Amino acid sequence: MIFTRKQRLLGEIIVPGDKSISHRAVMFGSLAEGTTEIHGFLKGADCLSTIHCFQQMGISIEEKDNTIFVHGKGLHGLTGPSKTLDVGNSGTTTRLMSGILCGQNFTSVLSGDDSLNSRPMKRIMTPLSLMGADIISLNGNGCAPLQITGKPLSAIHYQSPVASAQVKSAVLLAGLYADGITSVTEPVLSRNHTELMLESFGVPVTSHDKTATVCPPESLQGQKIQVPGDISSAAYFIVAGLITPNSEILIKNVGINPTRAGILKVCEAMGADLTYLNVKDDKGEPTADLLVKTSSLHSTVIEGDIIPTLIDELPVIALLACFAKGTTVIRDAQELKVKESNRIDLMATHLSAMGARVIPTDDGMVIEGDHPLHGAEIHCKYDHRIAMTFAIAGINADGETNIIDSDCVKVSYPAFFEDLEKLS
Ligand code: S3P
Repeated sequence: MIFTRKQRLLGEIIVPGDKSISHRAVMFGSLAEGTTEIHGFLKGADCLSTIHCFQQMGISIEEKDNTIFVHGKGLHGLTGPSKTLDVGNSGTTTRLMSGILCGQNFTSVLSGDDSLNSRPMKRIMTPLSLMGADIISLNGNGCAPLQITGKPLSAIHYQSPVASAQVKSAVLLAGLYADGITSVTEPVLSRNHTELMLESFGVPVTSHDKTATVCPPESLQGQKIQVPGDISSAAYFIVAGLITPNSEILIKNVGINPTRAGILKVCEAMGADLTYLNVKDDKGEPTADLLVKTSSLHSTVIEGDIIPTLIDELPVIALLACFAKGTTVIRDAQELKVKESNRIDLMATHLSAMGARVIPTDDGMVIEGDHPLHGAEIHCKYDHRIAMTFAIAGINADGETNIIDSDCVKVSYPAFFEDLEKLS
């Protein structure tokens, strides 16, 4: 798909539902008693993978008038799938579901696409095995396909070496089936959607500083869930509004949970004209409408505890830094290398191809801003966040930017290109 420069972006956007919250709503709804009603569910390929997996395990999930109804069968109601569970491109499906599958009374196999099957799974296999789980990487390389045979699980306290909500959640979800209190301490706090949502389903969960603790519950109770707009999807329009001349974009109903909203702090630190309107709190998952206007930006340093709160936004933040005066440094973000692609590598290669000054480092990037961009051919390696980032780069560059495999945006934002077009 080809992108050329746009003179301005004006209008309103309603971004699709939060991906992390949508996955969890289906998973926890499947394990609950009664029906869980999900409003604002993200119908992206990743979350549809989660729905299909739970349907394969006997859960009835239907859609009526844009609402998803999950007819839960209780903590012990899943049935063994007759074939491999296809997790597609979704790391969240794979890692969180593994935690659940360890506590079942059947064997299952999870496998995904080439990207997913090359992502590291030892990070969940290690703690789940410590709990007594039988979880095997079938190719012996620490990646999916994973074979999981349910076993009685022991509660553990896990000191996670990595700030990852997927690792934390896998352990906490296995903890629902364990023989006592399970807790996870992270080096830096990651997104806390699992803790918040498990609590709303009636599970005894506590969070203290960087430690989350769960007690095995009698049952989960079906809920009505309103999924906020995904800040990770809003990020492309935040950056587009800031760097495209003469722009003003109102992005409505964006989730601004503090464990996710690091991009807003970074934009403010860089001098962004960004206003929060209509701020609401909903069971710990606050939302706001965000008004962004073209801004004169300066560089910043992004490191330390803020990194997990903006990890998925770093590709588009790197683009933002190309439009700021001075040198922006991103550190402590080595996790970028094991996302849907090696995002340090891809961002540095393709931004440089467009004329930006970017030096990749082992844990981030150094970006000298304020050098004009020109079009290039972008091979996004089927990484949705790379495709969306370079669409925003392309509308702010001379010449043509051609994004190969741009249809991968369907993973998290199927209508992204249409929404971008509407703003012109
Ligand atoms: C997610 C956690 C993050 C994030 C991913 C979604 C989640 O991954 O990058 O897109 O829903 O828990 P890590 O936990 O591996 O950092």
